[in-house]
Amino acid sequence: MLTEVNVPLLDLKAQYVGEMREQIRAAIDEVCDAQWFVMGPNVSDLEAEIAAYTGAKHAIGCASGSDALLLALMGLDIGCNGGENGRVICPSYTFFATGGSTARLGAVPVYVDIDPVTYNMDPEKVREVAKRTPNLAAIMPVHLFGQCVDMDAYRAIADEFGVPLIEDAAQAIGSKDHKGRMAGTVGDIGCFSFFPSKNLGGFGDGGIITTNDDALAEKLAVLRIHGGKPKYYHSMIGVNSRLDALQAAVLRVKLRYLEGWHAGRIANADFYDDAFLEAGAATTATPLGEPADLALRIPERPAAPARHIYNQYVIRVPAEHRDALREHMSTAKIGTEIYYPVPLHMQECFAYLGQPEGDLPESEAAARETIALPIYAELAVEQKRHVVDTVVGYLRRHATKAKAAAGTR
Ligand SMILES: Cc1ncc(COP(=O)(O)O)c(C=O)c1O
Repeated sequence: MLTEVNVPLLDLKAQYVGEMREQIRAAIDEVCDAQWFVMGPNVSDLEAEIAAYTGAKHAIGCASGSDALLLALMGLDIGCNGGENGRVICPSYTFFATGGSTARLGAVPVYVDIDPVTYNMDPEKVREVAKRTPNLAAIMPVHLFGQCVDMDAYRAIADEFGVPLIEDAAQAIGSKDHKGRMAGTVGDIGCFSFFPSKNLGGFGDGGIITTNDDALAEKLAVLRIHGGKPKYYHSMIGVNSRLDALQAAVLRVKLRYLEGWHAGRIANADFYDDAFLEAGAATTATPLGEPADLALRIPERPAAPARHIYNQYVIRVPAEHRDALREHMSTAKIGTEIYYPVPLHMQECFAYLGQPEGDLPESEAAARETIALPIYAELAVEQKRHVVDTVVGYLRRHATKAKAAAGTR
């Protein structure tokens, strides 16, 4: 009798085993014994270790990746300052916090379309939009799914328009750009999330901000504690965005394993790439409408020294098959997710921006055609095989039928 293969989208229990599990429990015990729960030595040690890992001069812990973005904007005085609503260029095809942080501060997100090969915001389109955007205050690219944007292109645009560059690196700790530079080190500020599903995930919410600017680092460190320095004396209005010592203690242990997990995810991506290409898929460099043996597009791999860390492995299929394929995978006990079903410019809360449906066609198409597959480091070969066989089997049956039907029309 065949045993059923289950493949959850993410299985954190598979990671929490062996030596690491013991080390984490010991680290938590130490925090409990010390009874020092907020900020403190674990947080400052984590900050030093993340700075060393990324190569940034400073790292400032905070309560979440969303807060990292909010603090970054506050640190750069972006918002509704004296009635001037600063505008921040960012992608629409991303997690809500990218645009939400800007709007929350009274600034105005300006959504720009993506490059369909990388799913990252297209720098050429950013330049065009920047030229016609009054009160441009910042540019905020996202290293989506763990793949760096072209940092040189973005640095050049930010410098050309004299605005700061904020990297939303929430999904990209350890990701490298085409020159081998770590995410979060080329922009003025880098923002990271330690949400549990990230490659470096805590046991709850957490985030960190990187910068090479001494004065900005000092300001951000004060802004996260209500802007008080010395304590109870406030020259600035900040927020409560302290990082918990328990989170920092867990993250410090997990950081030691991060490179191994990246390697595991990259090896899984290699497996998927090879198997899907062999089955007739093409990479995103071939648009879905162009002929290939299978109506499936896999991520185009960036050339070394760039490094995609595959926080997500996202495939693309014709919109008419996407939801049914997902349903079929769910029946086959495979977890998937849609990142993201509604681009930000089409969210109800952003209707006031006046960027209607049709404005950003690549973002809208990606929202209809993409599916994220399980990619976590501990996946077994039979699990990956099951994913590939299920996707390919479904598309062969259904995309072939669609082709045949089109031929008889
Ligand atoms: C691109 C992006 N930006 C920001 C965030 C916000 O991070 P957090 O969930 O830690 O607040 C996330 C988290 O999913 C994200 O993926």
